[in-house]
Amino acid sequence: MSPQKKSTFFKRIAHYGPRRTFNKLQQRILQRFHGYPRSILLQAVSACNLKCEHCFLNNFGKEIGDGVIRILPYDDFIARADKIKHLIRHVHSFYFSGFEALLHKDLFRMMDYIVSINPAIEFPIMTNGNSFTPRIFDELTKHPIPEISVSLDGISRETVESFKTGAVFEKTVETIKTLVSLDLNASIGTVFVLHKGNRHEFIDYLDFVNDLGVKDVYVTNLMSFTPALRDRYLYTPDSNPELDTLFSRTIEKAKKNRQSLTLPATHAMLKGCTQWNLLFIDIVGNVAPCDYLSVSTPFELFGETQQTRPLIFGNIMNDDILSIWNGKAFKKFRAMHRSGKKLPGHCRLCADAWGLVCSNRTVYDFR
Ligand SMILES: C[S@@+](CC[C@H](N)C(=O)[O-])C[C@H]1O[C@@H](n2cnc3c(N)ncnc32)[C@H](O)[C@@H]1O
Ligand code: SF4
Ligand code: SF4
Repeated sequence: MSPQKKSTFFKRIAHYGPRRTFNKLQQRILQRFHGYPRSILLQAVSACNLKCEHCFLNNFGKEIGDGVIRILPYDDFIARADKIKHLIRHVHSFYFSGFEALLHKDLFRMMDYIVSINPAIEFPIMTNGNSFTPRIFDELTKHPIPEISVSLDGISRETVESFKTGAVFEKTVETIKTLVSLDLNASIGTVFVLHKGNRHEFIDYLDFVNDLGVKDVYVTNLMSFTPALRDRYLYTPDSNPELDTLFSRTIEKAKKNRQSLTLPATHAMLKGCTQWNLLFIDIVGNVAPCDYLSVSTPFELFGETQQTRPLIFGNIMNDDILSIWNGKAFKKFRAMHRSGKKLPGHCRLCADAWGLVCSNRTVYDFR
């Protein structure tokens, strides 16, 4: 076992206890053996309380004419969950949205239902930190939530609010402080989307969140959907000494603060994305490789543009989920990403396939 893997293994035992760690490992081996996904995202919310200019949700109804903004009623969610019950039993984690799941008034009831199908399942949460209520904080303590990642893209009000449209900087910071202070089993992390408008705050960011009690920092680059963002990302097609230097300095900070820092590539590297691990089901029940390919998402990369057509492998209300998941075309699509040698045509200009966003990042774990 490599030192990195060894330390992760012992941290897992410390976090989950030996029995749960063993069960999780066993489940993972079975997942690999049977070819099940590791996680499911059954979209119950394709909506948000904010309107970030950089988020592709903001293009729904405009450049993305087929994007549907909606919150799924509880009963419809249950009907969908029932259709994929036999797969829910075999996955490790479950998501309700790639947008803002906390907006759903029945979120915790839906969690309870999923737990009744698979008592070992977990619900990682991604949030903008501006949708919390006292009830949500309370419910979080009662549900199996291993991780909460809060978006915070800077250390000043001006930088954060000019990027995260509609967010209130103080509110995000207060949310992080409250989450850290709660008696949760979850690790609390922050996500920093790096771009030209916040790079000047990047190095001090590590200290800023460390002072709030945050030990997990996830960094991604800015993905560009329409040419409007073309001049705002920092990655390059080839080598990128400027960004490499910035990252080296940040790694030093993380080391000093004993934080875990997850960094993307600084220049394009063909890697494929890690969506093959996750079963994505959109708000109308369609199975697609990811959020982006469930609708007609435009991509921009280094000046090239492409408007993708949706790539749908079936609908869970009409077809058996395992037949969809194990269909020839879907398997081939996942295999291409897994090998990371050649991309499906739909993904050619998605920055995530090139190591620049969240897939295949490097973890510098100094905790
Ligand atoms: C889609 S959001 C969903 C969770 C939550 N609403 C939030 O904003 O944190 C997940 C993450 O994607 C990031 N994101 C959104 N648009 C992006 C883009 N164009 N490039 C890179 N990251 C982006 C968000 O900042 C957030 O960290
Ligand atoms: S808060 Fe998250 S989901 Fe909402 S618009 Fe911004 S990035 Fe998108
Ligand atoms: S590379 Fe991008 S578009 Fe393709 S499956 Fe991955 S996230 Fe989706």
